[in-house]
Amino acid sequence: MELTELKEYLKKIEYLNSTISLLHWDSMVNMPKEAMEYRSEMIGYLAGESYKLTTSEKMKAFIDSFTGMEDLDLITKAMLENITKEYQKATKIPEAEFVQYEIDKALSQSAWEEGKKKKDFSIFKPHLAKMIAANKKFSEYWGFVDNKYDGLLDLYEPGMTTERLDLVFGELREALVDLLRNIQNSDRKTDDAILKGDYSIDSQRKLGEAILEKLGYDFETRGRIDVSAHPFTTNFGNKDVRITTKYNTADFRPAIFSLIHEGGHGIYEQNIPDELLGTSLATGASMGMHESQSRFYENVLRKSMEFWSYFYPKFQETYPELERVDLKSFYQAINCVEPSLIRIDADELTYSLHVIIRYEMEKLLINGDILIDDVPRLWNEKYKEYLGVTPENDAEGVLQDVHWSGGDFGYFPTYALGNLYGAQLFHKLKEDLPDWNHQVEGGDFSSITKWLRENVHQYGATFKPAELIRKVTGEELSATYFIEYLNNKFGKLYGVS
Ligand code: CO
Repeated sequence: MELTELKEYLKKIEYLNSTISLLHWDSMVNMPKEAMEYRSEMIGYLAGESYKLTTSEKMKAFIDSFTGMEDLDLITKAMLENITKEYQKATKIPEAEFVQYEIDKALSQSAWEEGKKKKDFSIFKPHLAKMIAANKKFSEYWGFVDNKYDGLLDLYEPGMTTERLDLVFGELREALVDLLRNIQNSDRKTDDAILKGDYSIDSQRKLGEAILEKLGYDFETRGRIDVSAHPFTTNFGNKDVRITTKYNTADFRPAIFSLIHEGGHGIYEQNIPDELLGTSLATGASMGMHESQSRFYENVLRKSMEFWSYFYPKFQETYPELERVDLKSFYQAINCVEPSLIRIDADELTYSLHVIIRYEMEKLLINGDILIDDVPRLWNEKYKEYLGVTPENDAEGVLQDVHWSGGDFGYFPTYALGNLYGAQLFHKLKEDLPDWNHQVEGGDFSSITKWLRENVHQYGATFKPAELIRKVTGEELSATYFIEYLNNKFGKLYGVS
């Protein structure tokens, strides 16, 4: 069998998957409401065809004939490893069980919706039990070394283990809880109410586009910006990378800030080199590494004084009401720390604590170390202990996120990993580009984006995230840099250390 034959075959899978993504994008951006049922059928059919190709006898023959072959280049090796893993993950689960799981999942998602609406965990409880039982079993089919949860982590963050996460998240949790207490005891208070105003959608879109253009996202010839209920990024190859946002005329932050976040994902995908197309490696190294790019742009850059030294005057020109808010007050307002109940509304400091709570809960659930009945109680205890807040009902507590209803265990950690990778990469970037802050102050992001392209983007998924972070920084994944970054930034802002 020839390698070119395998690549042709992989391209077919990529075409199907791109078509599914395009249909999905369309359903979020353009589709009339009542088209949902037919659209789901279309997507379901194409997903089935893609699954058939991924798990076929032909795929097995390809894998068998190339495995163990010597003199393969780096990309071909990574490609083979990737398709072998996909093949095994899919074929080790008995088909009947997988079909049942898909049916259960649909029911689970609607039970979660109802439970959330009625603020009642008991409606979702039996479905959560089914999702957990199925995922436990999947992990057993795939095989794991130390912890059943590792098999699930590996789906989103290849090679990541519970052992490693316990270490870095443990360190991070302690540091965050300490820093948060110090901030809460500080007399310095910040307030973001000064940012409320009347901001037209048109002006927000123009400012957002101007920022993204500066950052290096190409929306003229290889991208576009649309509106959807939840902002997201999707792509079909590296020359069609689309992002979405949503506007609020009373506050420009949701739209502008989510555009910068999604722009970070988009720049990653646009910078994937052509030679990786059709190899199954033309994407980010992992969900966590992808999130590191969006969070680098959204948090490290966008929440910095340097960034706003350049962009804030443009905002003041557009919005006369901001003339009474000076740059320093603006900077403080967009970096306001306030422990809250809802993860997606959390600030840069407390966000990772929300994620760590979910990680700790998932690990217990997948290993059967807590009863489903105890889930809301334990959730609320952890919120009290780490963040000092208590949900009034299940909707603002354990039912707030959609992930568990779709069986997505192992996904949450990637959000916090994005912060850790991002800070670790930033530390190295500053060493390589000591002048980065002056460049940003002058509105020049080109060397930063070039650095990210050369060190991260150009490899796509050729390296596993642990290999990539070692390759770029010379060190293992660590919480140190993110902790240092937060202590430094919020220490100054709140006069604590
Ligand atoms: Co993201």
